[in-house]
Amino acid sequence: MTVLTIRRPDDWHVHFRDGEILKSVAPFTAAQFGRAIVMPNLVPPVTTSAMAADYRKRIEAAVAGHAFQPLMTCYLTDATDVSDLIGGHKAGIFTAAKLYPAHATTNSAAGVTDVWRIKPVLEAMAESGMPLLVHGELPKPEIDVFDREKAFIDAILVPLLDRIPKLKIVLEHVTTKDGVAAVRAHRPRLGATITPQHLLFNRNALFNGGIRPHLYCLPVLKREEHRQALRQAATSGEPGFFLGTDSAPHLRHLKEAPCGCAGVFGAPSALPAYLKVFEEEGALDKFETFASINGPRFYGLPPNEERITLRKSPKYVCETVEIGKLGDIVPLLGGDQLAWSCG
Ligand code: DOR
Ligand code: ZN
Repeated sequence: MTVLTIRRPDDWHVHFRDGEILKSVAPFTAAQFGRAIVMPNLVPPVTTSAMAADYRKRIEAAVAGHAFQPLMTCYLTDATDVSDLIGGHKAGIFTAAKLYPAHATTNSAAGVTDVWRIKPVLEAMAESGMPLLVHGELPKPEIDVFDREKAFIDAILVPLLDRIPKLKIVLEHVTTKDGVAAVRAHRPRLGATITPQHLLFNRNALFNGGIRPHLYCLPVLKREEHRQALRQAATSGEPGFFLGTDSAPHLRHLKEAPCGCAGVFGAPSALPAYLKVFEEEGALDKFETFASINGPRFYGLPPNEERITLRKSPKYVCETVEIGKLGDIVPLLGGDQLAWSCG
């Protein structure tokens, strides 16, 4: 197969940031995807519907000229105002809400300290059909960083599914076979996004010939057996597994640093990177289901009507993206040649 025509895909997990970075990175997403779930971990975080409505306007200005719809999320805290949250959902401002366990990842200090403290908020979300998006790691110092997803599934995710029966949950950027098994056990109420980096690399890649800060993200890359489980899930066409890049840009100097930030900037190479995986697995026929069908099905939205054509026509991924005077950002697979391109 050398040409693939599919419904326009969506990215169900992206970080756009704000200001100069937003202006430089958002067009990469808008050029490929019809919609994207925009993560709210700005500084300060997007915690109210008014903040989300303003942020949406700044995103729309950054992607002017593209037929692209940003879908906004609310950053949950211990003090989330339930009426603003549910009102914002009913008004079409919030598509979903994001649970960052406090201190689990970048800009999560204001996150939720104990998920049961916000049980009434989660119950109200369940009642109104508003999905909960979780960063699924238990950030306890005594738990090994490679085991934090499984620890979260056992201690938080499964109890949440049990105790709040109607709540729909996305296990964001699933990285383990345990996460894949949880989706299979609990769908259609539980879904998962899968990133290109977790499909392409196991944890060896972080140390390949030296430390590789541009592949460092959270949840961190895992063992090969987990990568294989993710590849099988993504390319199976099964409902519940869908595209979410977790594109998380950080300026180069903040990653190539003594304490480098977590986050892989996947947006520029997103579709060609996923296509590499699907081609290697002999599953190009399942790509549309993963990229364009399963996500909207989970969210209860229609799939995009527009079609795009992907071609087997080798193209280099840009080595860096300049961010005005601030510096530059290194994309996933920057400088590599990829077999597929999207226009
Ligand atoms: O690697 C990550 N980067 N993981 C996250 O959960 C947050 C993200 C970011 O915002 O940089
Ligand atoms: Zn993320």
